[in-house]
Amino acid sequence: MSFRRHGEGTCPPSPAPGRKAGGFCVVRRGAKGLSAQTAKGVGLWYDNGVMMLINLFCSLLAVLVTLGPVRALGLPRWGVVLAGVALVGLAQQTLAHRAFGASLLSPDALPLPLVALFLWGTAFLLSAGGLTVAWLGLRLCHVAVSGWWPLALGAAVGAFVVWMGVRTPPVREREVILPGLPAEAEGLRVAVLADIHVDRWRGRAWCERLVGRVNGARPDLILFTGDQADGPLALRRGDLEPLGGLRAPEGAFLITGNHEHYFETEAYLRFYEGLGIRVLDGRTATVRGLGLMGLPDRRSLTRLGDDALRLRGLREALPRGAFPVLLVHKPGIAPEADALGVGLQLSGHTHGGQVPGVALAIRHFNGGFVRGWYTLPRGMRLFVAPGSGVWLGFPYRLYPSEITVLTLRGGVAAGGAKKEKS
Ligand SMILES: [Fe+2]
Repeated sequence: MSFRRHGEGTCPPSPAPGRKAGGFCVVRRGAKGLSAQTAKGVGLWYDNGVMMLINLFCSLLAVLVTLGPVRALGLPRWGVVLAGVALVGLAQQTLAHRAFGASLLSPDALPLPLVALFLWGTAFLLSAGGLTVAWLGLRLCHVAVSGWWPLALGAAVGAFVVWMGVRTPPVREREVILPGLPAEAEGLRVAVLADIHVDRWRGRAWCERLVGRVNGARPDLILFTGDQADGPLALRRGDLEPLGGLRAPEGAFLITGNHEHYFETEAYLRFYEGLGIRVLDGRTATVRGLGLMGLPDRRSLTRLGDDALRLRGLREALPRGAFPVLLVHKPGIAPEADALGVGLQLSGHTHGGQVPGVALAIRHFNGGFVRGWYTLPRGMRLFVAPGSGVWLGFPYRLYPSEITVLTLRGGVAAGGAKKEKS
């Protein structure tokens, strides 16, 4: 990728090569010939905590579905037992990954069809379990409903939400009015690539299609807002190489998300630089009157101090007159950015909330911001990108993924703190 020269500053420097990321000790596990790496603290928390709880919950749902709709099918007793064992087995994806020495942070050890089967199985059990509760309610009201309904509908919903998560996203054009936008940035087209989460399922072919769609939209500038890949670099290098084919006259910039800090952060960043994508973590750059600021994900800042302080440093490092644009993976820092006079914040991390219900929890943990446009009290515009991909640990979506292409326009301040139509 070729770049125009940009004004550039650094404030303060990115973590030194070889340093541990975010206070987490990076460990190496044997994984049937794979060098699966995961951050110890994160791996233990997910594998022994949340993901095992999901395993347990889905196991209980499997028993509920077996004793409810499956038993109502009129199968012989051995058939019901066999179906129950199969359904409980479907719920064991975390145990299966652990048995192969890997985790859902990098599901590279199991054969891909088995990974897909477990992912669909979890989605099936969650939806069929909910439908079974409704089915039981109808039966209590003496409404005759076949046991096939919750099973068939659960299977279809499970397949649909997985497909929505792993599909190649369409381009979505959006326009934003930014008071004070410099004339040279008027009409600038910015492709925002959030949470692409390239992994073993959505690998090289998916990445090639993504690049084709981005280039087809003819953006002037490409901005990645974190969570670019999952897994050790040795396994993802070939999958990510197509990103080197991205084309934009003003170039491409990237910041880290939390998932960058689960693996070899510095090696990944050097790899992206090698592809022609500029790493903006802890740095500033000026592009056609925009003052880009890249705030690394707070996971990397744990040992470096307060991220609001670092944001202030970045803001002060911008050249006078540059329109401040903040790239930060998680949106929750928006009020501090607004108070510092930032004009536009671009974030991701939430995957648009993924599915109703879960979106409420995601909103709660991200400062009330979950997807689309927000206007902060001092006028800053916040865009929480729905994202182009999803993490394979929970790859279920009803809120659709997209490749966002923003067209920047100058204009009059909207005023007031509010959520706008996304
Ligand atoms: Fe994230």
